[in-house]
Amino acid sequence: MKFTKESMVGQQNQLSSQEIFALEDKYGCRNYAPVPVALSRGEGVFVWDVEGKRYYDFLSAYSAVNQGHCHPRIIAALKEQADKLTLVSRAFYSDQLGNYEKFMTDLLGFDRLLPMNTGVEGGESACKIARKWAYDVKKIPDGQAKIIFAEGNFWGRTLSAVSASSDPSCYQGFGPHMPGFHLIPYNDTDALEKALQDPNVAAFMVEPIQGEAGTVIPDDGYLRKVRELCTKNNVLWIADEVQTGLGRTGKLLAVDHEGVKPDILILGKALSGGVLPVSAVLANSNVMDVIKPGTHGSTYGGNPLACAVATEAIKVLLEEKLCENAERLGKILVEELNKIPKNKLTTVRGRGLMCAIVVHDSISAYDVVLRLRDAGLLTKTTHGQCIRLAPPLVITEQQIRDGANIIRKVLDSYDK
Ligand SMILES: Cc1ncc(COP(=O)(O)O)c(C=O)c1O
Repeated sequence: MKFTKESMVGQQNQLSSQEIFALEDKYGCRNYAPVPVALSRGEGVFVWDVEGKRYYDFLSAYSAVNQGHCHPRIIAALKEQADKLTLVSRAFYSDQLGNYEKFMTDLLGFDRLLPMNTGVEGGESACKIARKWAYDVKKIPDGQAKIIFAEGNFWGRTLSAVSASSDPSCYQGFGPHMPGFHLIPYNDTDALEKALQDPNVAAFMVEPIQGEAGTVIPDDGYLRKVRELCTKNNVLWIADEVQTGLGRTGKLLAVDHEGVKPDILILGKALSGGVLPVSAVLANSNVMDVIKPGTHGSTYGGNPLACAVATEAIKVLLEEKLCENAERLGKILVEELNKIPKNKLTTVRGRGLMCAIVVHDSISAYDVVLRLRDAGLLTKTTHGQCIRLAPPLVITEQQIRDGANIIRKVLDSYDK
């Protein structure tokens, strides 16, 4: 395909899907291999491609669009704030940040909030806070602080995040890696207990359910034991709820399923309902106060536009009872998927609307994704044979049954 500057100017809306694929392929860094579908509009649980075909979105931008695409209340808050003030940097105060911080800390029961932008920055910030706490409060010798992570973790693509990864495609070729990062198996409290015997451990960072690893749900009681062991050994527990947080699993936070509270909580993704990159780190003062002026920051972190959008996005979650919806409809989705014969689907996993299926080895998971696309439902594989199913939490019962039906029919088509 040939592109000239003249042919492209003002032509964006008239490009076909094929032209859009070719354009990204030619000019973009090839760091993704998207499912071939080119979207131009979204509303609630649906997205439309440039040819006008409608799809259920069962990925929700990796759980960022929990409130549904272009939620009218969030978009109205965005537009209203965009007309007034968008960015001042933290050199000055704005009339938005303090209110947002109060709202979030009251809601989640922490003393303080650190505003950042992307999920990975939330993880980076949590690690920095943990290291500083290790030296200032726990009195670990300078340069010796360790952070423990669980195998299979995913918290982004920066050098720190890939240094914590057990997946060679994340870390290989990007060394040297961050020192002081150590891995133990996920869902293994004996390994954690052993690792925490080391007095130089500052923190254990873990996802309550591992998202990118394929919606891996730990045993009941895992998080309670993590809490107990971290408290006993004076180690900070960092819960990465960038993907699990904000209603996705049927509770506001996934840690709420076990009634426990981490020392540091990381949120992102759905914090803005998929409208802007907004992340946050929450902690009590005994931890957060190790960060002093000049030791951490971000130009866009805490910008007035993000604060207004995030506040409204959280109000939508609460007022539309999206956690409850996720809890109820997640059960229906899992129940429906479990009716599909095991020679097609070997496993169905889910908590709330954070679900995944593992398709039988005789079937290509990527081919299933393509057939689902053709049948009007978008999703993506994670590892191996695993396909994630995570629709916006505004989905209705009829729509969830319709989605399950599409999945069943697509899997049925492998008999023919
Ligand atoms: C659990 C978890 N943490 C952190 C991140 C990184 O978020 P971001 O892509 O916004 O940097 C992700 C992204 O998928 C995630 O799933």
